[in-house]
Amino acid sequence: MSKHILLGVSGGIAAYKSCELVRLLVKAGHDVSVVMTAAATEFVSPTTFQALSGHPVLLDTHDGVQGNGMAHINLTRAADVMLIAPATANTLAKLAYGFADNLLTNLAAARACPLAVAPAMNVQMWANPANQRNITQLQQDGVAVLGPGYGAQACGEVGAGRMLEAADLADLVPDLWTPKRLAGKRVLITAGATFEAIDPVRGITNISSGRMGLALARACRAAGARVNLIYGQVQASIPPHLAHVEQAESAEAMYAAVHRLVADQDVFIAVAAVADYKVHNVSEHKIKKEDSASVPVIELVENPDILASVTALPKPPFCVGFAAESHDVLAYARVKRVKKKVPLLVANSVAQAMGKPTNQVVLITADAEIVLPELSKDETAMAIVAQLADMLG
Ligand code: CTP
Repeated sequence: MSKHILLGVSGGIAAYKSCELVRLLVKAGHDVSVVMTAAATEFVSPTTFQALSGHPVLLDTHDGVQGNGMAHINLTRAADVMLIAPATANTLAKLAYGFADNLLTNLAAARACPLAVAPAMNVQMWANPANQRNITQLQQDGVAVLGPGYGAQACGEVGAGRMLEAADLADLVPDLWTPKRLAGKRVLITAGATFEAIDPVRGITNISSGRMGLALARACRAAGARVNLIYGQVQASIPPHLAHVEQAESAEAMYAAVHRLVADQDVFIAVAAVADYKVHNVSEHKIKKEDSASVPVIELVENPDILASVTALPKPPFCVGFAAESHDVLAYARVKRVKKKVPLLVANSVAQAMGKPTNQVVLITADAEIVLPELSKDETAMAIVAQLADMLG
């Protein structure tokens, strides 16, 4: 869904990352307007932001671009959200106290849309009690504070204060306009392909990219849930700001991780493509051609069914399952929903879903079958979350 984002850039070296952020937001289909403080223009030229956003960059309250001379009002009325990235300690202090001494702070004060800030400063400046007071004040005022990240800083020191990476900020921005339909819910998700070792270098896996599970983690987080993600092999980045993230390669490791966490979860969504069988005769050493007189035989034994084991618990969370089928998708999926005792099952065809950027699914419940069109995996995940929220009431 395309939105109008007002990006405020204040004067910090992280302003260079905001160029990439604009590019990512525009690529995601959003309309981005950039407002810079005078200090920000010392780090990045307004021309760079103009080229990336496709709009003139606004610099101060007396900028003549706005016909009625009220840029500070007009710009936020058109915006769905305002994000300040980087937000320096100085700009955060002004925001906390309601100062309005440049176009950016005027806009923040006069806004009629949600405000988010991405702090960027030295580790000591971040820890400074005055700054911490300002951050607490802003949070109490309903401002979303994104980050900061932890790591090496431009000044050479290491610690908290780095601005989040552009990709992480672009991932988090849609949370700002997403209704919090899962607020307060704890959601456990499995994602990706499991890997069953044959020997130290070889194994059995499958073509799942993990994108559907990661999209669901992102959609649940955006809807206000506390997300715990357990993933196998994935070919996409793990969404930022999840409550707990853990890799579990084999089906057995994933089973153990799920059962360690599941007791206090409200929802369990099993998206992982879990191997039904593991290798019984795993070789401690790499299998060598010259060591075997004939072709080696791999003996398989059945893995535990993670989803079925969770629905069999005395007090299971609300469970959502997936069915990946190569043929007769609906017929198999209907049976799977009943057999695995899940109130909501997402049916998809292997050819349309696995390893692909889009998906076409059918949501199957006890009394309805909702056919969704072909959508991106993020859009499909949002539709699943909407259905989940309806069912949770
Ligand atoms: N699942 C699981 N543990 C397993 C196998 C599957 O938790 N050992 C979960 C999947 O995450 C998915 C659902 O069960 O939510 C169905 O998975 P799918 O691979 O479609 O079906 P299977 O149960 O493996 O059955 P089959 O391979 O016979 O289709």
